[in-house]
Amino acid sequence: MPIAALVGTQWGDEGKGKITDVIAAKAEVVARYQGGNNAGHTVVVDNVTYKLHLIPSGILYPGKICVIGNGVVVDPKVLVEEMRYLHDRGISTQNLFISDKAHVIMPYHKVLDKLEEDARRLKIGTTGRGIGPAYVDKYMRSGIRIGDLVNPTRFRSRLADFLPMKNRILREIYGHPGFDPDQIFREYSAYAQEFRDRVADTSLLVDEARRAGKNILCEGAQGTFLDIDHGTYPFVTSSNSSAGGVAAGLGVGPNHISSVIGVVKAYSTRVGEGPFPTELKDAVGDLIRERGREYGTTTGRPRRCGWFDAVMIRYAVRINGLTGLAVTLLDVLDAFESIKVCVGYDYRGQRLDSFPTDLEILQECRPIFAELPGWQRDISGATGWDDLPYQAQHYLNFISEEVGCPLQMISVGPRRDQTIVLSDVF
Ligand code: GDP
Ligand code: IMO
Ligand code: MG
Repeated sequence: MPIAALVGTQWGDEGKGKITDVIAAKAEVVARYQGGNNAGHTVVVDNVTYKLHLIPSGILYPGKICVIGNGVVVDPKVLVEEMRYLHDRGISTQNLFISDKAHVIMPYHKVLDKLEEDARRLKIGTTGRGIGPAYVDKYMRSGIRIGDLVNPTRFRSRLADFLPMKNRILREIYGHPGFDPDQIFREYSAYAQEFRDRVADTSLLVDEARRAGKNILCEGAQGTFLDIDHGTYPFVTSSNSSAGGVAAGLGVGPNHISSVIGVVKAYSTRVGEGPFPTELKDAVGDLIRERGREYGTTTGRPRRCGWFDAVMIRYAVRINGLTGLAVTLLDVLDAFESIKVCVGYDYRGQRLDSFPTDLEILQECRPIFAELPGWQRDISGATGWDDLPYQAQHYLNFISEEVGCPLQMISVGPRRDQTIVLSDVF
């Protein structure tokens, strides 16, 4: 039965949480496959706003199985806090499972994230959550996994293996006092105690659900242009946030993934450093930011705003094998008399239609815009295609044709009911 993947097509914050929540109504399993609590997914249910960083957005429905897959890096403190946050709001986390293979974000990862960022000549603007350093240790084979954390003997032994070297780096390079193994052991064992009964072979769990014919939704974090391989490196995160990460990050066969939904804002935003060809550093960008409330869910930073970039989304269609687009925040464009869409780049007088892989070329690219008429009407109450003004329909059809991917869902507000579903995922 179907495994559907949902990915961000830009630089994150496309509204993946909201779209996951809408699709999750018909899913039995919702799984995260990469990233960690650098993500901030906002879901509005019955006028209550939930901000999730680590736990899949499917948790807001009773009874759904939620999985934190092996490809995720887990901060145990954040996990426990998020479980409490949900509990305090009457949301059960009974059906949450965490892969024993997921790597743990240790306190030294968080400290190193900040120290390394400070020391960097070219800032990335990381979320400071320890994501990069945790993935470094995973690939260095110096990581501590959830399966180690919940086993006291193994946890002690892993700490003895790895902490001395971390402390040397912290002390000798950064002048940081370092960490005491006993203190970490006590604190982190206490966190582990709160979720040890949910630690599982989540690949097996997902496969059993698949064999039983259940619908499985994989919730991506970040976005295609933050992908470690395919994003605007080095201004990226440290995981494969594009659809290629699903199979490895959950332990599912890629042949079982039957659809890939690309969540895309009706314009563009970016938080953190790095190139952004359609960025608007003027009153138009400010108006998008204010109307879209474009301030980071995780760090509260103002997001950089710009027009829709079809060159980028064409690339996202290719990298992810997108089967449908979920266009979000369309209502933010209600205020504009005319709306621009970047359809190509001008690089030293030469037109580029595909996204350049060389950042130096990208930095010199100037957007070539098409200008479309705005609708200047409130569309936040639209529930069907026919409720949209013809200019909005034209805009949507235009971007769909430009990027070469069919429209699947349109979002006109943060709530569940502010969604137009053109074709079902399940
Ligand atoms: P994510 O990281 O991709 O899940 O996105 P975020 O939650 O970080 O940012 C998206 C923001 O837009 C959140 O505040 C959502 O509540 C909000 N949002 C999602 N869809 C829509 C929409 O169609 N219209 C408006 N106005 N807001 C939306
Ligand atoms: P969601 O899932 C937007 C950005 C950071 C920084 C870069 C690297 O909410 O879309 P990291 O802490 O991952 O090492 O930071 O990636 N970033 C995000 N930007 N949305 C996110 O997640 C992000 N997660 C990381 O701002 O530029
Ligand atoms: Mg976000």
